[in-house]
Amino acid sequence: MGKTRKIVIDTDPGQDDAVAILLALASPELDVLGITAVAGNVPLPLTELNARKICELAGRPDIRVFAGASRPMVRDLVTAEHVHGKTGLDGPDLPEPEMMLMGEHAVDFIIDTLMKHDEGEVTLCTLGPLTNVALALVREPKIAPRVREIVMMGGGFFEGGNVTPTAEFNIYVDPHAADVVFRSGVPIVMMPLDVTHKALTTADRIAGFRNLGTRVALATAKMLEYFERFDEEKYGIDGGPLHDPCVIAYLLEPHLFSGRECNVSVETASELTMGMTVIDWWRVTEKPKNALVMREIDHDRFFELLVERIAAL
Ligand code: BDR
Ligand code: CA
Repeated sequence: MGKTRKIVIDTDPGQDDAVAILLALASPELDVLGITAVAGNVPLPLTELNARKICELAGRPDIRVFAGASRPMVRDLVTAEHVHGKTGLDGPDLPEPEMMLMGEHAVDFIIDTLMKHDEGEVTLCTLGPLTNVALALVREPKIAPRVREIVMMGGGFFEGGNVTPTAEFNIYVDPHAADVVFRSGVPIVMMPLDVTHKALTTADRIAGFRNLGTRVALATAKMLEYFERFDEEKYGIDGGPLHDPCVIAYLLEPHLFSGRECNVSVETASELTMGMTVIDWWRVTEKPKNALVMREIDHDRFFELLVERIAAL
């Protein structure tokens, strides 16, 4: 690996996506080649707009933002305004962005980027439904061996689901896309709910951001305050799970996470368990290991890292 690691962030912001993007843009170890938006938490026109708002908040209007799929591959779009608010980014008051959306489609950008970089040079960080990445893999299968790895927030196993009893939102929204990705042969690092439900935005931790007093940190505190309300009530805990930044934190400090390699298969047939990630944790089948599934996180260091990095923006 060179000095910096080249990444593309595929995302549906979302307050927790936004914090993940801020963490990436605050980290000199990472070279963000582009941000690709997908429909998920809110429809595509809002996710691409929110991605640009966050780049400008970070003082990085030079980052290229591309719009991708406006709906899942097969099923109808399911959104999560009840969690993220009408805009997807409720909480802080962020100005309309001045930076333009790129003209190229996100799927073309993903393919072009992988084809023009060396094999194993580009990492895909997925923070939303996997539609864009699956469409790219289907349209140009030659990209699969070129991806260094996919680091993904999605799925759950021991922890169950957060949108149905068995499915996590990102996988549930586009289970067919997730199925394509898990069968692609690309190395996958998976941050399921089993990890993210241990990364809670407690009042003290949000105060840690607020006390920094900078514009970015205050906006972060407001996003987290908004975002945690729904989950606090749902799970009866202090703070909501901060899902997506786990992906970026893994690139910076992989030792914060532990898990094991196993087979992950996605349910695409049963309505009852649609989008469930069936994880062969105990290796009771002969199915090939296709993902490093994380289960534990050093959550204190995770929040320390976030505060350190966001302080620098
Ligand atoms: C995932 O769903 C979205 O609401 C969050 O942004 C995160 O990516 C958690 O299930
Ligand atoms: Ca997300």
